[in-house]
Amino acid sequence: MAEAAMGGNLEHARETGDGSDVSTISAAAPAEVGLRFEVDGEIATVTLDRPDKRNAQTFATWSALARIGETLPEQVRVVVVKGEGPSFSAGIDLRMFRPEGVPGQGSFASAAALGDTEFEQRIAEAQKGFLWLRKPEIVSIAAVQGHAIGAGFQLALACDLRVVADDVKFCMKEPALGLVPDLTGTKPLADIVGVPRAIEMCLTARTVGAAEAVRLGLAEIAVPASELAQAVQDLAAALLSTDRAAAAATKRLLQAAPGRTLEEQAAAERAEQVARIRALFGAN
Ligand code: ACO
Repeated sequence: MAEAAMGGNLEHARETGDGSDVSTISAAAPAEVGLRFEVDGEIATVTLDRPDKRNAQTFATWSALARIGETLPEQVRVVVVKGEGPSFSAGIDLRMFRPEGVPGQGSFASAAALGDTEFEQRIAEAQKGFLWLRKPEIVSIAAVQGHAIGAGFQLALACDLRVVADDVKFCMKEPALGLVPDLTGTKPLADIVGVPRAIEMCLTARTVGAAEAVRLGLAEIAVPASELAQAVQDLAAALLSTDRAAAAATKRLLQAAPGRTLEEQAAAERAEQVARIRALFGAN
């Protein structure tokens, strides 16, 4: 199993015209970033690895996640996202709410002083850490135990599939803290549970347990915590049993289906199938 060291220079500093650094996102060492990345054949595993802080996430975490996405080895077909310890993730590092912030990454107060464009760009950089998990070439699976709060819930939602332990506690806490969920979580949540249920869930910031998560489609399956790793491994193996190119093409079709008419989707199916059958049976 090859382990890629995350870290080195994760700095995403931008400069203003006068050369001053206005929005340093991260220059963290790997241990401080709190991530592990391992590749075993066609399966990559991203582990949030700050269990003593319940895998709280920082801008450095999101920069590192984005970099994993940008440099994902081509052979990888399944990406597992998991958390070390009792919680998948307790969300954003609460030091962001304090004036001193997270060392090297600022605070919400320092971010508030940025101009609109800079500020939104900074959020866009963070969102990159989540968006790559939807690429058609891979299937991403969140293995979720314990708390998945705020950014933790959104990271689970950024994955295609969720396998949960029966102690899971999903909570979109942002509105209770005066924020909105902005790490790409609102769309998958609304798509999966519907707008009314998403409004109820987010605006009460209540906790959703395993049985409800399965019932609402937020989780594919719930298993005892001791069986979580095996359940994820079994799902990954099943996903790898289908043809690689056909899987990517089918995921592309399914992802686009909700935004298309039946006729548009039928046309997209034709185009993908022509490419498939030519690849399989066409003369070279
Ligand atoms: N940021 C930074 N540190 C955290 C966070 C966090 N989000 N969550 C937990 N920790 C730290 C605690 O401060 C504590 O550190 P310490 O041992 O140095 O005192 C350690 O992790 C363990 O936390 P406990 O609260 O003791 O663990 P417990 O298992 O009892 O509770 C729980 C876990 C429920 C997740 C609790 O820690 C909690 O409520 N955390 C905050 C959740 C939150 O509000 N997140 C922000 C959501 S909004 C967003 O993500 C944008």
